[in-house]
Amino acid sequence: MIERREFLRNGLLAGGTFLLPKHWSFASRGSAARNSRVEVLLEEPLGTISPNLYGHFTENLGAVIYDGIWVGENSSIANLNGIRQELVEQMRKIKAPVIRFPGGCFADSYDWRDGIGPLDKRPRRTNFWEGVEPSNSPAPHRYDPNQFGTNEFVHFCKLVGSQPYLAANLRSLPAEEFYRWVEYCNSPAGSTTLAEMRAASGNTEPFPVRFWGVGNESWGCGGNFTAQEYAVEFRRFTTWVPSFGQELSFIASGPNDDSWEWTRGFLDEMVRKGPGQLRSIYGLALHYYAWNLSRGRTRDFNAGKGDALKFEVVDWYELLRQGEVMESLITGHWQIMGEIDREHHIKLVVDEWGPWYRPGSEMTPGDILEQTPTLRDAVFSGMTLDLFNQHPEKIAMANCAQLINCLNSLYLAHGDKFCVTPVGHVFDMYAAHQGGESLRTVFSAPNVHYQRDANPASLAGLRGSASLHDKVLVLTAVNPHVSDACETEIGVPGATIKSATVTTLTASDIHAHNTFAQKDLIRPESKAVEIKGRVLNYDFPPASVTKLTLILQ
Ligand code: AHR
Repeated sequence: MIERREFLRNGLLAGGTFLLPKHWSFASRGSAARNSRVEVLLEEPLGTISPNLYGHFTENLGAVIYDGIWVGENSSIANLNGIRQELVEQMRKIKAPVIRFPGGCFADSYDWRDGIGPLDKRPRRTNFWEGVEPSNSPAPHRYDPNQFGTNEFVHFCKLVGSQPYLAANLRSLPAEEFYRWVEYCNSPAGSTTLAEMRAASGNTEPFPVRFWGVGNESWGCGGNFTAQEYAVEFRRFTTWVPSFGQELSFIASGPNDDSWEWTRGFLDEMVRKGPGQLRSIYGLALHYYAWNLSRGRTRDFNAGKGDALKFEVVDWYELLRQGEVMESLITGHWQIMGEIDREHHIKLVVDEWGPWYRPGSEMTPGDILEQTPTLRDAVFSGMTLDLFNQHPEKIAMANCAQLINCLNSLYLAHGDKFCVTPVGHVFDMYAAHQGGESLRTVFSAPNVHYQRDANPASLAGLRGSASLHDKVLVLTAVNPHVSDACETEIGVPGATIKSATVTTLTASDIHAHNTFAQKDLIRPESKAVEIKGRVLNYDFPPASVTKLTLILQ
């Protein structure tokens, strides 16, 4: 347990959110035994939390589409026009707001025309990921049967209640094909040949699609461009795209983690044609995967990864420490963006995020890039979503990579088997933030100290975010400490907490995860919390994700 002296030093001397605010009003009342404090500042709104911060990513990769989402109309597995019914039901529950498709790297090899028209006439194509598929993997994973194309994806979005976000191919198709895809999706009923083709598949009315990614990771698999070359392509692709009365929001391929030079180089080249060019960019994509668990031994992407299921306490902390990096990426890229785009017209779109482990924990052996999320990934995800909530003016959208049978998946499925992962439970808990007013919230808690081989290391203790929905205050937090509770005093100056309920996701084993055989080994538990006086004392359990719902008066 942390010494009180150390707590005070952390609370009073550390920077940022750990400084006690000058109007801290309840700290002295009977709080001697508490080691942490949370103060929600009702008068310091940060902006509305866009539901789109809770978005998803579905790439035609491994078992994400074929087996995960698409089971086919003739399947014995419960489905809605070929789409896995249980997945749709779960996604409706978490209010999934937006889904990105078809990649990822796959997007820059995809011809959208292959995925329209009658199912039995669609061509089979080599999947971008074919080279890394094991030879005995299911055929649709290697040779794309194109049964799940634009119509099916948009239908999936409609069933769930999500907006579609399509990623266009900039590397291997000409700009004209981008315009035509927009035309297929958005041109009015009966107006164009493509609108008629859409109608022939039962979609007379436009879909319509607002969000369009212009390439993906264009510095790498999406074309190997320099930032300047990509800017030229981006201008060409987005100039004079027919809109058909639908607002089009173009998302530029952005940096991978801390590639500051990409952000600067891209925007500098854009404005070489004048500052007005910035108006064509809705968002700049940011991708960040936490993968290096080598404790500084290597920067090699393959050698540095850790195991999803077999890990030590130090690996738990190392992963979460990597999660903390997200904040510096958001603020760092935002600052560079502001130097060129002074009015901050362009927002960040974190359209790929999550931990990435080495192969070996696949629930379905052979599913490439699939891993089994544990409580560690739930804490990582809660912490990341809290970070997004704290920057509502900077981030327009975020998409967890990836929805099902992949990296930081909410769900795992194979044939008729299905389970919700701890990450899925976090999205369920945090859905309550969507559309709320984000409030500055001061967390004052002892840091977590651990041994990183021979060296001491630390990461922030209790952290989270809060949002207000009329008189309902939603406060979420993660306690990353594997064995110590955060005995916390929670205050909302200017309001009285009338009642409170708590939902907690935790387990005695930090490796806890769900499987097809044990689907509910780890799941959230809810209960009422007793309020005594003006503040709420609450002990955040070790290794936990918590949502407190406070009714204010
Ligand atoms: O999510 C897996 C891959 O990671 C995506 O295809 C790519 O964009 C990223 O490198």
